[in-house]
Amino acid sequence: MPHTLTPDYRTNDSPMMALEHPLFADHGIKVWMKRDDLNHPTIQGNKWHKLKHNLEAAKAAGKSTLLTFGGAYSNHIAATAAAGQAYGFQTIGYIRGDELAGRPERWSHTLLTAQQNGMQLHFLSRSDYRLKTQSDFLDTLSAKHSEAYILPEGGTNQAAVQGFKTLSQTIEFQCPNWTHLFTAVGTGGTLAGLVKFATPNPQRHILGVASLKQADYLIPDIESLSGVSYNAAHSPNWRLLTEYCGPGYGQTAPDIEAAQHWFESQFHIPLDSVYTNKMVYGFLQELQSGRLPSGSKVVLYHSGGLQGNPKT
Ligand SMILES: Cc1ncc(COP(=O)(O)O)c(C=O)c1O
Repeated sequence: MPHTLTPDYRTNDSPMMALEHPLFADHGIKVWMKRDDLNHPTIQGNKWHKLKHNLEAAKAAGKSTLLTFGGAYSNHIAATAAAGQAYGFQTIGYIRGDELAGRPERWSHTLLTAQQNGMQLHFLSRSDYRLKTQSDFLDTLSAKHSEAYILPEGGTNQAAVQGFKTLSQTIEFQCPNWTHLFTAVGTGGTLAGLVKFATPNPQRHILGVASLKQADYLIPDIESLSGVSYNAAHSPNWRLLTEYCGPGYGQTAPDIEAAQHWFESQFHIPLDSVYTNKMVYGFLQELQSGRLPSGSKVVLYHSGGLQGNPKT
């Protein structure tokens, strides 16, 4: 039986966990992790915040289907399929890589689960996939799927950004004196939402750790989505940290893996291997290079993504 969107779901909540460790005490900082890997059983982490207003908009527009785009390991594809299953929408995924068409034996766990959750999968060549933001390509798709509400890759749009309002308010309530907030960055929608809704305070810094290489091109998008310019004397101030992405998107390196392993074994909190691993690595590097002053109160945002971890 599909669920309806109720106010309860709009205020879904997860714990803010204090992380105690001699390393943090030695640097005179306090650290918490906002455990949004626990906020929803299937639409985990930042995906819940990005989808909730879009689901309402799709319902309000009378659309029966959610249509979106992603790679074979996309958490957004997994979350959209799960949201369709939970809230009574059909789902269609346009997936990068036509070499996967008709070859389910080569599909990732993400694609197999999306299909089990009812998503209809279409595979695009890499060159066609690049058209996914162009208006004539989108017009053709809208004409072909007139029943569909179209979500961009990664689910990032203004409705998604708006979804971070309640998260920001909850972080404020659970950890009112935070000075530094770290989050992982893919398209920048999550960072933009956290920047837009943070309570201004000159001591506050929101730090986005890019999971892909040469991510500076995201800065204008984040500025426009958040309405807050980069490096301005604005509070809270935000930065995009581009040096902790390792070899590139979905790829890791021994120092990133070591940081993930250290964190998971110290705190018994699982990280994903695309986004939150690099966020934690970035935080540890900033700490060890002396860029987090004594007295800092740091919140690490766990944005989920655990569905993509290799299954044992
Ligand atoms: C688990 C996880 N964390 C963080 C991100 C980055 O979010 P955004 O695309 O909003 O920057 C993603 C990607 O969508 C993700 O799946």
